[in-house]
Amino acid sequence: MVLLVPPRFRITALCITFFTTLLTLAAFFYISQSPLPEDEDASDNGGALHRLMSFHAPDLGSWIGLGVDRSEEVRQIRELRETFMTRFPVPEEDTASGRSKNAPALQRLADCIESGTCGEGEETVVILASFHFNNALNGHTSGEDIWALSSIEAFSALNYTLLYSAGPMDTLTLYQGMPDKVAVILWEGGGLKECLARNEDTWQEQEVAHTSGKFQEAEGRFGCMKREGYEEGIPLHKSFTFHFWEGPEHPLGRQFTLAPEDYGAWAKDGKGNHFLGYSIETRCRSVELPSEKLHRGLILGKRKDYFDPESRDFYWPDLLGPTSDAMPSAHNATSGEDVPFELIATAGKNQDGVPEDLFGQKIHNLGPQTQDGWNAILSSSKFLLGIGKPWLSPSPYDALCFGVPFINPVMYWDKENPHDWSKWITQHNALRAVEPPFVYHVQKGNGTQLEDAFRAALESPIDRYIPPNMRKDSVKERHRALVETDWMPWAEAAVEELFTNKGGQFWYGL
Ligand SMILES: *[C@@H]1O[C@H](CO)[C@@H](O)[C@H](O)[C@H]1NC(C)=O
Ligand SMILES: *[C@@H]1O[C@H](CO)[C@@H](O)[C@H](O)[C@H]1NC(C)=O
Ligand SMILES: *[C@@H]1O[C@H](CO)[C@@H](O)[C@H](O)[C@H]1NC(C)=O
Repeated sequence: MVLLVPPRFRITALCITFFTTLLTLAAFFYISQSPLPEDEDASDNGGALHRLMSFHAPDLGSWIGLGVDRSEEVRQIRELRETFMTRFPVPEEDTASGRSKNAPALQRLADCIESGTCGEGEETVVILASFHFNNALNGHTSGEDIWALSSIEAFSALNYTLLYSAGPMDTLTLYQGMPDKVAVILWEGGGLKECLARNEDTWQEQEVAHTSGKFQEAEGRFGCMKREGYEEGIPLHKSFTFHFWEGPEHPLGRQFTLAPEDYGAWAKDGKGNHFLGYSIETRCRSVELPSEKLHRGLILGKRKDYFDPESRDFYWPDLLGPTSDAMPSAHNATSGEDVPFELIATAGKNQDGVPEDLFGQKIHNLGPQTQDGWNAILSSSKFLLGIGKPWLSPSPYDALCFGVPFINPVMYWDKENPHDWSKWITQHNALRAVEPPFVYHVQKGNGTQLEDAFRAALESPIDRYIPPNMRKDSVKERHRALVETDWMPWAEAAVEELFTNKGGQFWYGL
């Protein structure tokens, strides 16, 4: 049978075939270009998550070879660089602060767009607005700073362009200079609150010399977050807070509150903040482990007041001396000597060059240490002992990664069911499910258990251990998911759940 098709329809059919083929080719090309997450951990679905939730429109023009004129983008980025340097001048000698890194980063971005040489990820911008990122660059080592350093490492491995902010006005300037390129902003909770509160009545109270917002006077518009009357502000659905603790710290709730630990995995209702997590793997692996450990246990804690036996947060009053005396000494084959066991600490200050005494307890205090010094001391000890504080410190992870077991004190347990760890409150709750010979759990004040744990830890050396969701690749994939997901649907759901369904008003724009 001969199919007679009028010419008019033939052209239409041809056009349809042409465009269908083009779209199919484009789709194949897109799929072949999509990055596959490397080494996806079984416990971590970050990579799959990001592909499922990625709504970024493919740039068809450049794929099918239509050269796109990008000089306007390049011009805007160069202009932002100038604006930023004018509003927030960086002294020449400052080469270490986060702020000093912005102009060079913007330069690199403009240059690579201009020459068409941007690597994958480079055109995605992340604004690091919590001061902990700046601390991390400058070698500070609080728990938050260590977390921040790990995030910088993960984002860098993904090749994103990182910009640092020293306050809401830095952040606003950076965001407004290229709103389409900024994927996410990681705020300090207080900084986000300030940004939310900024308007024509409040801006003057917020004025700080080194991050002044006076430039808004010229525009006659005072604001920071996107809202009615300040539509050019930062949208809340791209804003996340960098928050170490369990509660939500964001108007849009938990999904927008980033967490260093998987709090949701421990919560009875399964609800927790957005688990970003951190890794100490790079830092830890760069430390060479000693071939033999000294016959001693190191106590966790830098502050002298953590060691005060009168404090209700100190878990072993009157127990440390007798317990360490009960430990057998070790025989040193090289020197032929018997070496008594000792507890050491790296706490308090030096007074006249001598480390402070720790409340007359039988603890050999070596005094404050540099990071390298502390690594060397920890890695050559036979265990790390918790005495109550600090909570959730990264140090027990360092210990495990150095092959040093941790003794985790249990402050609360269910008397009926003392082995049910889900009911425990411990110094480091993230380690409750980890068992000996890696982590020993000892009930507060129980000398028998403490002695058993000391003895077992001395007798059972371990290899390096890094919890799976703290391995570098696992952490990297969660950072990728954070940046490459379109969070708008989550934000809309949160507005409904937390505001409109409760009859509340939501003042901000998404
Ligand atoms: C990251 O960027 C650098 C240069 O800017 C490039 O050499 C490297 O291949 C990029 N990495 C990835 C994963 O795209
Ligand atoms: C054993 O003694 C030698 C020589 O005094 C010393 O260098 C070494 O550190 C000691 N080893 C231990 C594990 O105490
Ligand atoms: C200490 O722990 C041991 C072993 O778990 C237990 O038998 C004992 O009752 C505990 N002692 C106190 C005072 O709780």
